[in-house]
Amino acid sequence: MPIVTSKEMFEKAYAGGYAIGAFNVNNMEIIQGITEAAKEVEAPLILQVSAGARKYANHTYLMKLIEAAAIETGLPICVHLDHGDSFELCKSCIDGGFTSVMIDGSHLPFAENIALTRQVVEYAHAHGVVVEGELGRLAGVEDAVNVSEEDSSYTRPEEVEEFVSRTGVDSLAIAIGTSHGAFKFKPGTKPQLRFDILEEVSRRLPGFPIVLHGSSSVPQEYVKIVNENGGALADAIGVPEEMLRHAAELSVCKINIDSDLRLVMTAAVRQHLNQHPEHFDPRQYLKPARESIKEMVKHKLVNVLGCAGKAF
Ligand code: G3H
Ligand code: 13P
Ligand code: ZN
Repeated sequence: MPIVTSKEMFEKAYAGGYAIGAFNVNNMEIIQGITEAAKEVEAPLILQVSAGARKYANHTYLMKLIEAAAIETGLPICVHLDHGDSFELCKSCIDGGFTSVMIDGSHLPFAENIALTRQVVEYAHAHGVVVEGELGRLAGVEDAVNVSEEDSSYTRPEEVEEFVSRTGVDSLAIAIGTSHGAFKFKPGTKPQLRFDILEEVSRRLPGFPIVLHGSSSVPQEYVKIVNENGGALADAIGVPEEMLRHAAELSVCKINIDSDLRLVMTAAVRQHLNQHPEHFDPRQYLKPARESIKEMVKHKLVNVLGCAGKAF
C-alpha cells in the first residue's frame, strides 16, 4: 500500500464514529512499535513528524523508514507534518513526499492565520496534499514553543465557518482544554474538557473532521515505573481515556499522541537498565522499549480510538 492522504480515512472515521491515531515519530524503534501494533489490529495510521523530529532525525531518514513500514505492514499510512510554523517548512515537507501538513497559525491574529493557512492550502492542494489548520491555542510544552496557561485560549466556535471556507483546509484542530506534554491538569483537580465547544463547532461544520492535539492519557502505571527507576515525573496527568473515546464518537477524526510514546519508552529503558546494569548494547534496552510502544499503541487503537479493523 503506498503512502496515502488522510482524506478517505477521515470520511470513514467521521461516518463510523471513531478516530485515527496520529502518533509522533522520531526514530526506527518508535516507527516499528507503532506500525507493528497497527498491523496486528488492522488499523489505518497517521505518522506525524514535528519540526524538531525532522531536525533530529533528518527528513529523508524518517520518510524512508515510514516507506519501509508501509511496505512491511501493507497498511494505509499518512505522513503528516505536525505544527508546521511557516509556508517554507510546509512546502519543503510537501516537496519531500509528505501527504499531509499542519500549518499552525493559531498564535497569529485571525486574519493573518487565514492568510498563511490559505497560502499553504493553495500549494498543498496543487500537489495532492491535505492541510490541517488550527484555531484556539493549547497550553503546554513542545520542542520550540512553551505556551503558558494564561496565553492559551479555547477555540471560538463563531470563527470556524469563516476560517474553513476562506482557507479551504481539510481538517481543523481546536482547543477545548487539552494541552501538550505530560502535565495537563493541576494535581487534585478533576480533568475537564469543553465538550460544549466541540459540539458547537461540529454543529457549525457538519461532516467536517476535527483534530484534537494534546491527547496523551499519561497512564499512571508507566509514570510509576519511571519514578521507581530514578525518574522524576511526579504529578504527570493526562486526558482520561473515556473523554478521548467520547470525542472520537463525535466529530473528532484525528487524535494526536506523543507524550505517551515518550513515557512508555522511557519507562521501559529505565526499568531495563536498572534490572540489567551490565547491559550496554542499545538493542538490549531498545527492544523492550519498542515492545512497550507496541502494547500501548495497540491498546489505544482497540480500546480508545476505535479504529482497529478499519484499515481496508
Ligand atoms: O505537539 C508537539 C509534539 O509533541 C512534538 O513535540 O516538537 O518536541 O517534537 P516536539
Ligand atoms: P501529547 O503531548 O498529549 O502527546 O500531544 C501531542 C500532540 O498534540 C502532537 O501534536
Ligand atoms: Zn500538537
